[in-house]
Amino acid sequence: SAPILRDLDDLRAAVSDWKSHGDRVAVVPTMGALHAGHLSLVEAAKSAADRVIVTIFVNPKQFNRPEDLENYPRTEIEDAEKLAPLGIDALFVPGPETVYPPGFATTVSVAGLTDVLCGAHRPGHFDGVATVVTKLFLMTGADIACFGEKDFQQLQVVRRLARDLDIPIEIQGCPTVRDPDGLALSSRNQRLTDEGRAAAPALAQEMARMAEGLLAGGGATDLARDAAVRLLAAGFTEVEYLELRALDDLRQLEAAEAPARLFAAAWIDGVRLIDNIAVG
Ligand code: PAJ
Repeated sequence: SAPILRDLDDLRAAVSDWKSHGDRVAVVPTMGALHAGHLSLVEAAKSAADRVIVTIFVNPKQFNRPEDLENYPRTEIEDAEKLAPLGIDALFVPGPETVYPPGFATTVSVAGLTDVLCGAHRPGHFDGVATVVTKLFLMTGADIACFGEKDFQQLQVVRRLARDLDIPIEIQGCPTVRDPDGLALSSRNQRLTDEGRAAAPALAQEMARMAEGLLAGGGATDLARDAAVRLLAAGFTEVEYLELRALDDLRQLEAAEAPARLFAAAWIDGVRLIDNIAVG
């Protein structure tokens, strides 16, 4: 199985060796607790590059609620076991002092895109993501990075920062992996009770129904209101947002005119689930 690297110097030495042989390097940033969604990114990275680095770092700066950071699953041994059959080249697992040494004072902040959706409900979250992703790009020196469409807003934020900061890296978006009943895979799904897990696929179902309604000419506001009523009846406790937005700048749309996506965040069992799907 792949070497586990914890120091930046070791990572840099491995990468410069690969690059001296002309190898193209991919990185798959994760926070661990790996599932089939993460593994699909690793497969995409393998197809796109000669060398693959997976990073595991539970980034404290992107958690806006301390209990969420504390509860986040940490399963490094199992994660390494899941990665072993895929044949990656390095697993980079830096400690917090490696990523944020004493005196660390810099924040990467992407304006606009982060004002809406998850950004509006999780203050500071995307600054934390943008800062750590920038660091992971610069630490690895990777030529390509794979991110899941499951976190579509994050994917757009990462694309923006790479472009804005002239980081020479290609960003590849990968489709959301779902359980057979439609629930998008997430490390948070483990925290659902049996009842919550049984009710959770209603989110994807209501989004699919809303997408059909939009394509039939319905308005987003009315369709979202109906969907929220049904989600609350199905066992969800809160629908944080359910919105139609344009792909490029995430501006809100009332009808499916431009290339659009439907975005949702909803709470069930004290767990916050997010999902998004293409419309049309
Ligand atoms: P994490 O939640 O561990 O997700 C790591 C990557 O896996 C992200 O690109 C995410 O979009 C992708 N992913 C998660 N669930 C997926 C699914 N069901 N199908 C496809 N891809 C999926 O996202 C983060 O970590 C962090 O914010 C990070 C980018 C690592 C920065 O700390």
